[in-house]
Amino acid sequence: MFQINDNYEKLPGSYLFSTIGKKVASYKEAYPEKDIIRLGIGDVTLPIAPAIVEAMLKAVVEMGTEEGFHGYAPDLGYEFLRSAIVKNDFEARGCNIEVDEIFVSDGAKSDSANIQELFSTNCRIGVCDPVYPVYVDSNVMAGRTGTYNSDTGTWSKVIYMPCVMENDFIPQLPKEVPDMIYLCFPNNPTGTTIPKAELQKWVNYANEKGSVIIYDAAYEAYITEEDVAHSIYECEGARNCAIELRSFSKNAGFTGVRLGYTVVPKDLKCGDVSLNRMWARRHGTKFNGAPYIIQRAGEAVYSQVGKIQLKEQVAYYMNNAGLIKKGLQEAGYTVFGGVNAPYIWLKTPGKMTSWEFFDYLLEEKGIVGTPGAGFGPSGEGYFRLTAFGSLENTVAAINRIKQM
Ligand SMILES: Cc1ncc(COP(=O)(O)O)c(C=O)c1O
Repeated sequence: MFQINDNYEKLPGSYLFSTIGKKVASYKEAYPEKDIIRLGIGDVTLPIAPAIVEAMLKAVVEMGTEEGFHGYAPDLGYEFLRSAIVKNDFEARGCNIEVDEIFVSDGAKSDSANIQELFSTNCRIGVCDPVYPVYVDSNVMAGRTGTYNSDTGTWSKVIYMPCVMENDFIPQLPKEVPDMIYLCFPNNPTGTTIPKAELQKWVNYANEKGSVIIYDAAYEAYITEEDVAHSIYECEGARNCAIELRSFSKNAGFTGVRLGYTVVPKDLKCGDVSLNRMWARRHGTKFNGAPYIIQRAGEAVYSQVGKIQLKEQVAYYMNNAGLIKKGLQEAGYTVFGGVNAPYIWLKTPGKMTSWEFFDYLLEEKGIVGTPGAGFGPSGEGYFRLTAFGSLENTVAAINRIKQM
C-alpha cells in the first residue's frame, strides 16, 4: 500500500486566496445584484504593454517557420534574456552578477517554493511575520517546520520575526539563528520596505552565522525611495550568502504570461559544494525551460520602448496606491506601505480582527481585501488592499470606504 507525504496533512486549511475566493463566491451567490470591487489578490489588471505584445507576436510567427522554430528551451534560459537581465537588473545598479548565475523560470512562486529543496530538512527557517504564505507552506510540505499550534498560528520549528507598526515593520535580527532566512522587500503583504543599510545588517548577520538569505525582490520595480536597495547584491558580501528571486509579474504584468528568474551566485557555497551547481542540476532535472515566446516577451521588457511603457504601468498602480493611502488616512485609518510597493497595509479599526474587517468590508461596502491574519499571527489586526485595480474601481472603493 502506498503512503502519502503526510507533511501535507499538517497544512492548516486551504490556501489563503482559496478561502477568500470561496467566501466571495458564496456572498455573490446570496447577493447576485451587489457590485463587488476586488482589491484582494495581488493580480495586475492592465493589459500587456504594446512593446511586449509585439515581441510575442513576432516570436509566434517565427515559431511557424522552419528557420525560426524553437523546441525545448535551454533549461537555464536563453542567452538573450539572461544577458538582458544581467545588464539591466544588475550591471546598471553596480551589482556583479554573471549570466550563468541567472536561472530563468516560470515565476517566483514556484522558485520560492522550490528553492528549499537545496537545503537539509534539518535546517531551521526564519520568516518575517506576516509573510507571503508560500515560504512557510513549501517548508511544511518538506517536513521542516515541526508541529502546528492552531491557537498561536505558529509552527514549532519556524523562527518568526515579527514586523509590526511598533518596529516600523523592520524585522529584528533573531537571537535564535535560522539556517535559511526568507526576506521580501518591498514586502508583501505590508507594502513596507527597509533601507539599504538595514538590509546590509542582514547580509552581515547571514555571513557571520553561516545562514543563507532567500531574498524575494518581486516588487523591486515599485521602489521610489533612494535609500532602498533594488537587489540584495547591492549589499557587500551578499554573493556569499544570498539567493535572489525575481518575477516579471508585477513590473510587466506577466501574472498570466509566467516568467521569473532566480539568481544563485557562484560564491554561495556550503563547504565545497556550490549552490549554483545544485540549482542548475535541479533545474535541469525538473524544469524544461520557459517558452521561447515568453522569453522573447521578457527580453522586450528591457527594450527602450518596453521600459517606457512599463514605467507608465507601474506609475498607474502607484497612483492608485497614493489614492488609497490618502483616502484611508482621510477616513481616519492608520495606514502603512504604498510608497515603495503596490500594497496598502492598514490597521483594522477598534478591536476588529482582520477577518471581521474582511466580512465588514465585503458585506457593507462590497470591497474585497485580504485579512492580515492570513499572512501570519502578527498580521492579526491588519488588512491589505492592493493598488492593482483599475483607477475607476480604486476611486469607487475609496469613496465607499469614506462613506463609512
Ligand atoms: C512576494 C511574492 N513573491 C512571489 C510572488 C509570485 O510571483 P510570480 O507571479 O512570479 O509567481 C508573489 C505574488 O504575488 C509575491 O507576492
